[in-house]
Amino acid sequence: MPGTPALELRSVRRTYGLGPSATVALDDVHLAVRPGRFVSLIGPSGCGKSTLLRLVAGLERPDHGDVRVHGVAPATACAAKMIGLVPQSPALLPWMSVLRNVTLPQKINPGAAGRRERIPGSSGRQTAPDAPYLRELLVKAGLGEVMHKLPAQLSGGMRQRVAIVRAFGLRPDVLVMDEPFSALDEFTRESLQNQLLALWDELKTTVLFVTHSVAEAVRLSDTVVVMAPGPGRIVETIEIELPRPRGERLLGERRFHEYEDLVRDRLRRAWHDGAA
Ligand SMILES: Nc1ncnc2c1ncn2[C@@H]1O[C@H](COP(=O)(O)OP(=O)(O)O)[C@@H](O)[C@H]1O
Ligand SMILES: [Mg+2]
Repeated sequence: MPGTPALELRSVRRTYGLGPSATVALDDVHLAVRPGRFVSLIGPSGCGKSTLLRLVAGLERPDHGDVRVHGVAPATACAAKMIGLVPQSPALLPWMSVLRNVTLPQKINPGAAGRRERIPGSSGRQTAPDAPYLRELLVKAGLGEVMHKLPAQLSGGMRQRVAIVRAFGLRPDVLVMDEPFSALDEFTRESLQNQLLALWDELKTTVLFVTHSVAEAVRLSDTVVVMAPGPGRIVETIEIELPRPRGERLLGERRFHEYEDLVRDRLRRAWHDGAA
């Protein structure tokens, strides 16, 4: 349906445990994300970022409020393979080549396309991408040379890139990524940001991305959502109105640094709120 957000959270609360020892991981969270937007979550550890992602991915349910993905419950969206997940460390099958790791998921869920078609807000793509398309994505991600290698023969950065290609290859309507680059060195990280932006630019997937890096959040996002702990909540939503593509040059510009300063300032306040 036109106008339906790709993601919507209304009055969401998620509590772990019971009684006095209970942790309110998220409280009164409202968020609406339009299709095709790139949204980052940033905030001190323990402010509920991963919890929010798990709710969106249908791995958990809120104890109050409502979560919708293209207007349907996350579990429904998940069964229709509308949601892709990139975890912090890439879960690749060690005995399969890079290419097989990327093409395999296409083969094991033939019913998903039909389920997706029945959901009005989804992209409703009927056919899974074929092997030539996935090869092309691998080449675009700079993995053409290592397509036939095993994951153990690749660097950490390359493995994470494979996981990203695999997730995009399933053409999810919504891609959620939980600190996917945090284990990588600065250079690898920057090159992966480039690859991610190139893929996102081409496929226009809605992305919900968790990061600890202010620069990364500003560079990648249309919207940066700043969160604070105790209880986990959203304290600020900042629209990043910088032109795209966001190449190297922009990173040195004043307007880029102004956004970094703004996010950092809000983040600092979030820390103080959390400590208070
Ligand atoms: N399965 C769980 N059981 C109990 N407490 C949890 C669980 N998962 C998360 N929490 C708590 O909920 C809060 C938010 O956690 P999390 O979403 O992992 O935060 P973040 O990803 O921002 O670091 C933290 O206080 C954490 O200890
Ligand atoms: Mg986390």
